[in-house]
Amino acid sequence: MSSETPTTSLENLSREERRFPPSEEFAAGAIATADLYDRAAADREGFWAEQARDLLTWSTDFTQTLDWSKAPFARWFVGGELNVAYNCTDRHVEAGHGDRVALHFEGEPGDTRSYTYAELTAAVKRAANALQDLGISKGDRVAIYLPMIPEAVIAMLACARLGAPHSVVFGGFSAEALHSRIEDAQAKLVITSDGGYRRGKPSALKPAVDAALAKGAPSVKHVLVVKRTGQDVEWDDARDVWWDDALAAAAPEHTAQPMDAEHPLFILYTSGTTGKPKGILHTSGGYLTQCAYTHKNVFDLHRDTDVYWCTADIGWVTGHSYIVYGPLANGATQVIYEGTPDTPHQGRFWEIVQKYGVTILYTAPTAIRTFMKWGEDIPAKFDLSSLRVLGSVGEPINPEAWVWYRRVIGGDRTPVVDTWWQTETGAIMISPLPGVTAAKPGSAQVPLPGISADVLDDEAHSVPDGGGGYLVLTEPWPSMLRGIWGDDERYQETYWSRFPGMYFAGDGAKKDDDGDIWLLGRVDDVMNVSGHRLSTTEIESALVSHPKVAEAAVVGATDDTTGQAPCAFVILRGGAEQGDDIVTELRNHVAQEIGPIAKPRQIMVVAELPKTRSGKIMRRLLRDVAEKREVGDVTTLADTTVMDLIKSGMSTSTES
Ligand code: WTA
Repeated sequence: MSSETPTTSLENLSREERRFPPSEEFAAGAIATADLYDRAAADREGFWAEQARDLLTWSTDFTQTLDWSKAPFARWFVGGELNVAYNCTDRHVEAGHGDRVALHFEGEPGDTRSYTYAELTAAVKRAANALQDLGISKGDRVAIYLPMIPEAVIAMLACARLGAPHSVVFGGFSAEALHSRIEDAQAKLVITSDGGYRRGKPSALKPAVDAALAKGAPSVKHVLVVKRTGQDVEWDDARDVWWDDALAAAAPEHTAQPMDAEHPLFILYTSGTTGKPKGILHTSGGYLTQCAYTHKNVFDLHRDTDVYWCTADIGWVTGHSYIVYGPLANGATQVIYEGTPDTPHQGRFWEIVQKYGVTILYTAPTAIRTFMKWGEDIPAKFDLSSLRVLGSVGEPINPEAWVWYRRVIGGDRTPVVDTWWQTETGAIMISPLPGVTAAKPGSAQVPLPGISADVLDDEAHSVPDGGGGYLVLTEPWPSMLRGIWGDDERYQETYWSRFPGMYFAGDGAKKDDDGDIWLLGRVDDVMNVSGHRLSTTEIESALVSHPKVAEAAVVGATDDTTGQAPCAFVILRGGAEQGDDIVTELRNHVAQEIGPIAKPRQIMVVAELPKTRSGKIMRRLLRDVAEKREVGDVTTLADTTVMDLIKSGMSTSTES
């Protein structure tokens, strides 16, 4: 961990004085009221036990709320049994809500489909049978590499129904990245599609699966292929099966079997500080409890009247917790959208809000900043009066973007909830409650009832109000990760060793004079690009895997739209040509190794990298260069002339 806490550049943030309390009308009808904090504080475990029993249907009740005796390996709702998919589908039908719409799907080309809870339940049952027919049973891992189509949700729930942990890989990741994830999880089946629609045209997915499996993945027995675009695909008769054929041949009825509360539900790979992505493991009962609890209370879900829309992709944790598990456990009606916000026009999101009467919208700061750039005229053309709660997730939201979001999209009326959480936390941890908290633009403010967080200094002391340091979670929580797939040691080392007994989140944070929390960005080598986590080391490894590269250093530089953008400094091997061609070649190489999102915004070919006498690269100085600032203190460099060399060589950089 570096000591580059980004507090200084954000010093002024917490002086923000605007306050946005909920309207009296909103507060009067709100689901979550202020007494939740007191109830949770009085008996934290009792509070969670109550949530678990209220929000979920258990086949066998649990006998112990939390077993923390083997910390940091937690067991929640010990002895309890439930089926996660049953909780998200069948039970709503059994309760008489089969005709309620679960999903309104909007394809990018404008095709639409809706699934009621009865239809979704039927589809999940058939898919579960189809998976079983392909040899999948409890405990087997299934990789899912799909666009944002209903089959993605159905596939995840079918896996959950069988107790076969899924590993969803974002469709924007390359064959290489997909391969390493399939191998790490030893997946037995891959579910993909011929392609999906992206920016107005079909883009292929199956070729990446073929390429990934060609690298060698003996664990994979079959590939199940959804037909989405109708484009030609290569076919291996012994291995590949069409989704439609498999479902048509499968039996329609399927009885969900109860699973232990701690049965693994999914693995989701995320970037850490080393080159190799970590498989974050989540289990069943605790995860689903906190997803349902937060989705209901943070978004003020009135199930019978709200239309909820989360714009994330299921390839990320936000899609897992706030498209699939939270909303469906709560029996909500939601919109899912396949495409990008600018296709076929820049008003697409607002057209969708108007069309479905969306009442709750959950999106990312990077999207909000993009809408600001496009101008207020665009949303002004649509009727957005149905909206009543707006959410933000994925990175710190700057106060101006927050205020714009509330004024332009929320009609100066809606609460805005800035929700802090991580792949590892599984569900929202720090956020205002929309009917209770007087919101402060730019601050996630308070741990939710049942959650305990603090900000510590280097010596692990809690900082006083007004101070800054590292964000930690001081008590276990139901949807916490249960480990890193296949690497218990790395789990303890990464999260529980910096501050013994506490979970270290990797984020810098500040407490303001009221004790409210302001998130300041990562303090480790993870960067946040458009709300997507990327590791500097991972991109460095991709660069040095290119035969012309001798050494590489990557930093996350501030970017007006994407929050941060990767900027790379590379030293070429002797004899390799300089110039624009090499820069393009290297950017494409990174796209191939990881995915287009990881492409460096800038690559600078340099003769040397700034290193300390012990050989550590001083990224702080590289960040100064990338952000076009005066370069800071260079006295600890082994060779103090290196920075001059780097600056004089900057003409070889390329911006895109
Ligand atoms: C950042 C996404 C500030 C943070 C759900 C965290 C945020 C990382 C916020 C996790 C927020 C997420 N304010 N920063 N509201 N939400 N982050 O795993 O740095 O993709 O550690 O989970 O995103 O990213 P991940």
